[in-house]
Amino acid sequence: MKTFGDVRALDGVDLDVPEGTVLGLLGPNGAGKTTTVRCLTTLLRPDSGKAVVAGVDVLRHPDTVRRSIGLSGQFAAVDEYLTGRENLQMVGQLYQMKAKAARARAAELLDQFNLADAADRPAKTYSGGMRRRLDLAAALVVSPPVMFMDEPTTGLDPRNRQQLWEVIKQLVSGGTTLLLTTQYLEEADHLAHDIAVVDHGRVIAQGTSDQLKARTGGERVEVVVHEREHLATAVEVLRGFGKGEATVEQHTRKLTVPVTGGAKLLAEVIRELDTRGIEIDDIGLRRPTLDDVFLSLTGHAAETAGQDERNGKQAAKKHGKQNGKQNGKEAVK
Ligand SMILES: Nc1ncnc2c1ncn2[C@@H]1O[C@H](COP(=O)(O)OP(=O)(O)OP(=O)(O)O)[C@@H](O)[C@H]1O
Ligand SMILES: [Mg+2]
Repeated sequence: MKTFGDVRALDGVDLDVPEGTVLGLLGPNGAGKTTTVRCLTTLLRPDSGKAVVAGVDVLRHPDTVRRSIGLSGQFAAVDEYLTGRENLQMVGQLYQMKAKAARARAAELLDQFNLADAADRPAKTYSGGMRRRLDLAAALVVSPPVMFMDEPTTGLDPRNRQQLWEVIKQLVSGGTTLLLTTQYLEEADHLAHDIAVVDHGRVIAQGTSDQLKARTGGERVEVVVHEREHLATAVEVLRGFGKGEATVEQHTRKLTVPVTGGAKLLAEVIRELDTRGIEIDDIGLRRPTLDDVFLSLTGHAAETAGQDERNGKQAAKKHGKQNGKQNGKEAVK
């Protein structure tokens, strides 16, 4: 458990990550993901509880733990005045690599993270996404057996995100154990063997992506209405057929509602929409996605890839949480 004054940041987080696998930690803003990572990486002392990382007790032997882990934090920690190359070489030297080996490793990582062109510029001239990549590269200078990455791809464009996924897959196939937090459910779906959903400092669900989807159950009816003015009436109609809350995406005029009843029900929905004079562009039945799992467990829609690039990084994210809406998706009870 970890409290900050009155805030119970962690209140019963029980996680187990088998060697050589990836655990994805998902949760809305303020759920306790970063606090969990900070406790496990010895940066923060929990008030109570026990944690073992790479076979070592984190509270009793923090120094030993530090030697076998790598961390890439939520906010990039690079030296602004050093160039990208110097930053990476410095990390190598901190880990007692020979100067030549540190240089070679730095060059390799600069290539891998698409930073070769900017390698000899001070980091303070880097864009947000470039810093993020430099920070990740720094965490990979040496290959520790256990890695922690707190929102590694937040703020990366789709191409750089894909490339980082490849780097992560290689790392894990080489035997690294990874705990990764993310707001991108597609990322968790893609990379994580196991997923833990955290909310209010507790793990509220855990399993593989398939297990979590099966647990959420049922299918989803998805409707795209032709006219935005018809959204409200369409919500009313879907609510009548649904087995849970409907999600509305204003900008795409899309409504989603969990149902049981399959194709027969779909036909009824179409008839009812028609009776009410609501013209539709698209309608379909689909299996739940990890987004649905997240929504039904936490009551929040998760962010989708691309939001950060459009809305301006962290600020948009924190704001999204405060008004209870994210990315224009809204849960309707
Ligand atoms: N140093 C601190 N002092 C006071 N409260 C804190 C501190 N660090 C975290 N908290 C609180 O603990 C809770 C969990 O925060 P944490 O940073 O772990 O969330 P998170 O899941 O990483 O969120 P995000 O998705 O926004 O990164 C929040 O309510 C936060 O305000
Ligand atoms: Mg965080």
